[in-house]
Amino acid sequence: MLNHRLEKELNKQVNAELYSAYLYLSMSAYFESINLPGAASWTRVQAEEEQFHAMKIFDFINERGGRAKLVAIESPPVEWDGIVNVFEEILKHEQHVTSLIYNLMDIATEEKDYATTAFLQWFITEQVEEEASVTEMLNKLQLIGGKGHGLLMLDKELAQRTFVPPAAN
Ligand code: FEO
Repeated sequence: MLNHRLEKELNKQVNAELYSAYLYLSMSAYFESINLPGAASWTRVQAEEEQFHAMKIFDFINERGGRAKLVAIESPPVEWDGIVNVFEEILKHEQHVTSLIYNLMDIATEEKDYATTAFLQWFITEQVEEEASVTEMLNKLQLIGGKGHGLLMLDKELAQRTFVPPAAN
């Protein structure tokens, strides 16, 4: 059974993951507006992943006898200063999410809730992958200066991404 403190903290993380989905969707709309369909598709797929993260925690709260409680989702920004700026913000955002997951892990450890620490391990691994893939993309963007023929090619590469639900475990 989930204790009250962990239930509250996990619910906060559901909200943070849903905010992430909102943020990526807003970025997707921005990319559509500056004619980068590949980047628009990539961020839209990322929004789906974030919803998956939110639902994974939502289900876990319920499975552990807690109650998932939904609260308002903050509005995301709507404007950025080009694609390099967006990916810089994505990296900062994912680093922030990693710190939230670490904080949750600290609390679950303090509370000696080993089911929750085992559950959170999946998110720790996921954050390593997310930060690595965004860093790689940011490096490529900085290399091409975020414009010209290179950007056109990179946008085509970004368009290849599809949503594959991460393996359940
Ligand atoms: Fe759900 Fe991008 O972390």
